[in-house]
Amino acid sequence: MAKVYNIAIDGPAGAGKSTIAKAAAKQLGFIYVDTGALYRAVALEMMSRGISPNDKERVIAELEKFGDGYFSLRFIDGVQHVFSGEKDVSSMIRTPEVSMGASAVSAIPEVRKFLFELQRDIAAKNSVIMDGRDIGTVVLPNADLKIFLTASAEVRAERRFKELAEKPDCPTYEQVLSDIKQRDYNDMHRETSPLKQADDAVLADTSELDLDGAIALIISMIKEKCAL
Ligand code: DC
Repeated sequence: MAKVYNIAIDGPAGAGKSTIAKAAAKQLGFIYVDTGALYRAVALEMMSRGISPNDKERVIAELEKFGDGYFSLRFIDGVQHVFSGEKDVSSMIRTPEVSMGASAVSAIPEVRKFLFELQRDIAAKNSVIMDGRDIGTVVLPNADLKIFLTASAEVRAERRFKELAEKPDCPTYEQVLSDIKQRDYNDMHRETSPLKQADDAVLADTSELDLDGAIALIISMIKEKCAL
């Protein structure tokens, strides 16, 4: 079997991980895996069943009803789609409510365990750039390269606000900033797999970089490390 490369990109919400990783993966011919979509799909499924993502006991009880593979990632023309059962929920998971719900369910160890093998399995079979919070620390501890991608909370809020501004019911900048800070806090202070830079990860701060600059930086880091 041809050598597969595993690149882990972790960092806080809104650091540009998905946009940067997606562009880099396309250029390098790797699969881009957005693991946050899985936590979002779990949150959405719970919410649609009338279960609060904060209600740990009920989330765990409900999770037990799903078989392995209930949540899945499928790659169609190189683009990731996330499925809840047989339903493609990719276009339904980007709302602020689902973001908060995902942050809540991701703090539940049973949810993380439920999604673990699925992520491992994709990386074992494919050259991937996988983004999340615990990829370098937990999911792919032997990744060929680990990048911790970050930017200041204000810069991240500004970027997210610009994305949301095109949509109806856009929140205010202050609301976006406060949501980002709340999610940072949740993600960094949970007991299981908190967001933190792996000891052997390289730090990339994109606060001062534009998108093209950040993509070029990540691609050059990957090419150098993997001798591509
Ligand atoms: O990257 P994102 O914003 O789509 O992630 C949604 C939530 O899921 C976020 O609050 C953190 C959580 N998450 C996680 O705990 N571990 C991952 N590997 C990916 C996301």
